[in-house]
Amino acid sequence: MADHSDDKQLRVGLGFRLGLADAMLQAAATSADFVEIAPENYLGVGGRRARVLHGAKERWPVISHGLCGDLAGSAPLDRDFMDRLKVFLRQMGARWYSDHLCLTNVDGAQLHELIALPFNEDSVKRAAERIRIVQDILEMPLAVENVSAYATMPGSTMGEAEFVRAVVEEADCRLLLDVNNVFVNSVNFEFDPIDYIETLPLDKVLEVHVAGYYEEEPDLLLDTHAAPISDPVYDLFREAWRRLPVRPPVLLERDGNFPPLAELEAELGRLLKIMDEVDTEALELPRETHTTVL
Ligand SMILES: [Fe+2]
Repeated sequence: MADHSDDKQLRVGLGFRLGLADAMLQAAATSADFVEIAPENYLGVGGRRARVLHGAKERWPVISHGLCGDLAGSAPLDRDFMDRLKVFLRQMGARWYSDHLCLTNVDGAQLHELIALPFNEDSVKRAAERIRIVQDILEMPLAVENVSAYATMPGSTMGEAEFVRAVVEEADCRLLLDVNNVFVNSVNFEFDPIDYIETLPLDKVLEVHVAGYYEEEPDLLLDTHAAPISDPVYDLFREAWRRLPVRPPVLLERDGNFPPLAELEAELGRLLKIMDEVDTEALELPRETHTTVL
């Protein structure tokens, strides 16, 4: 396997999905510095999945981003899954792991959905305790991702951004800032997305996600990852990049309705352009920035 441990700083990456795998592996050149996979799709699986994963690992650093960790759930933690995940992450040369700040398991049933929590102190304590346990099991930094949602759970006593901040601080973990999820929720729940971002512990951001949404209604956006990044999300990404005191890797998530790879390359190019423009602004107006994530 290729060793990517001394690679250059990771700037932009692309979600590695089966529907894109052949095109990505056959592309002569790409601006993606890394790819991201959901380990649940590859754990203990052979055949084509194992072959394309091997191909990806030969070419890029492969970052793992979980779907089913149930980080904020109340069902017993799946220790067998966590133990297998730990072995997989070691094999992939992972330097960190991330999953969503939500629950995915109810009464032992894996929902394959990301269910938001009531934003209150009880949820903060429960999620932080589980996140600490998972970090201890995996023995690597764990970043939790802010999720998109379509209803406020009963029992919420704080705003979403305050909740995310409280969990990250209580768990002493890292944050995966999904800019598209912030924008989707800001429309669905009518809040200011920049206020939201400024409430987060931005020094804890270890990775950024961007993606496209589907507009069901003007006041109801669905986080589909099946469309190009929208202009307002590019704009919000620029505002987030201006405010981040770190320079984390930025991942373009595309999970369906796959276009020709050239279209995704163009989106990566637009993200890189924004990053360069903001970094140039920062040079002209000095402020404290850091280039290393870990
Ligand atoms: Fe995401």
